[in-house]
Amino acid sequence: MTEAPEGFLSVSRVFAPEALGTTVRLRGWVLRTRSSGGILFFLLRDRTGVVQVTGRRDALGDAAFDAAEHAQIEGLVAVEGTVAEDRRAPDGREVRASRVDVLDAGEPFPIFADQTEEFLLDQRHLAIRSQESVAIFRVKAEFLRAVREFFDREEVLEMTPPILTGNAAEGGAEAFQFDYFGRPGYLSQTAQLYLEALLFPHERVYALTPSFRAEKSRTPRHLTEFLNLEVELAWCDFAGLIDFIERMMVDVLHAVAKRRSKELTLLGRPPEELLAIRAPFDKIRYSEAIERLQKLGFPVEFGSDLGTAEERALTLESKTPMFVTHYPRERKAFYMYQTRDDPRTVEATDLLGPEGYGEIVGASVRETDIVRLKERIVQIGAKVEEYEWYLDLRRHGNVPHAGFGLGVERVLRWMLRREHIRDTTPFPRTPSRHTP
Ligand code: 4AD
Ligand code: MG
Repeated sequence: MTEAPEGFLSVSRVFAPEALGTTVRLRGWVLRTRSSGGILFFLLRDRTGVVQVTGRRDALGDAAFDAAEHAQIEGLVAVEGTVAEDRRAPDGREVRASRVDVLDAGEPFPIFADQTEEFLLDQRHLAIRSQESVAIFRVKAEFLRAVREFFDREEVLEMTPPILTGNAAEGGAEAFQFDYFGRPGYLSQTAQLYLEALLFPHERVYALTPSFRAEKSRTPRHLTEFLNLEVELAWCDFAGLIDFIERMMVDVLHAVAKRRSKELTLLGRPPEELLAIRAPFDKIRYSEAIERLQKLGFPVEFGSDLGTAEERALTLESKTPMFVTHYPRERKAFYMYQTRDDPRTVEATDLLGPEGYGEIVGASVRETDIVRLKERIVQIGAKVEEYEWYLDLRRHGNVPHAGFGLGVERVLRWMLRREHIRDTTPFPRTPSRHTP
């Protein structure tokens, strides 16, 4: 509700009780417009809201009225007028203009109802002005703010790991390779190994950085570039890790539900549903998940991958996220801690979003035993030499630690009930698209 410079008010101020009857100056974009019988109606949008503006030909003068009539959708205008009550107007108020200045009439706006998804993706730079898009990215910003507030309180420090790297870190997931002055370079798939190094001087660290995956997965939950929220905690065991993730999720979901209830409602997720989510979340072992899936008719056995269909089946009926723990060691990344009393498994967990949405967080205790680490590096077909710097971390003050990565767009897809993950990022990158 800040006052704009040069005497312009923000639109939301029009709806304050004391604004009634006063003269205001507003500026912003035309959301919709029509004129009839010498009266112009338009909806004016700025970052704080939408208000109806009316202007009579006799009040504005012919030249200004004609110019305003030609302003296109998304044209830029400035308005001066009186705030009045009007039952037919959105939120019961309108501004009766004494002056309308068209700052940029604009060309015909190419986006309107019933256009194809592909067309809208081509026009993404303009489509992100829709009310739906605005609501999505307000929620995303709030989510990131709440996460940072949580880490502040927990004394977890923000770090800035590199995006350009010399080795591919996340075994299994494909890396984008490029020419780094004649040597191979890779776009970061995860900040984890760098965060593990940074944990030795800082003990509790996180990073919010893009991760890149050159997977040709055309699914509604894969992007080739996504925002990875990654955390590493020293002195943390498996129970402590699960507890941290659970507290973070509840805290952040509740903060967003309280602060962005209007947007959530508009997007089809009543905030009460997020407020109803409480700890403890369900926790099942991978082996138990396999049994459940077998009962549901899935042809799986110990060692099978849990893919989209399996995760969906496990979570379809639940309203609260669920931890699946103790995955088979050979299915998971080389750095995960081998369960000492069940060596087939690792102390790893995926947090699955409810309602069928599936994996939103991947977490594990990190292996501290350098022999086991080297064994796994060889097993995945990588060269031990390339991980020498990482192995050094086990040679100097080898502290027990654990961490996780949360896919920000994955969480938002579930929170905002979106069919496709691309809705949750302004300029989605998928195998078939990296423009605009
Ligand atoms: O499970 P992932 O691959 O784990 C890691 O990258 C670990 N190194 C993280 C860590 O422990 N520091 O990725 C983490 C999360 C997943 O749980 C998922 O939510 C999301 O990132 N994610 C994707 N989101 C969108 N598109 C993709 N292609 C994704 N791949 C993973
Ligand atoms: Mg994972």
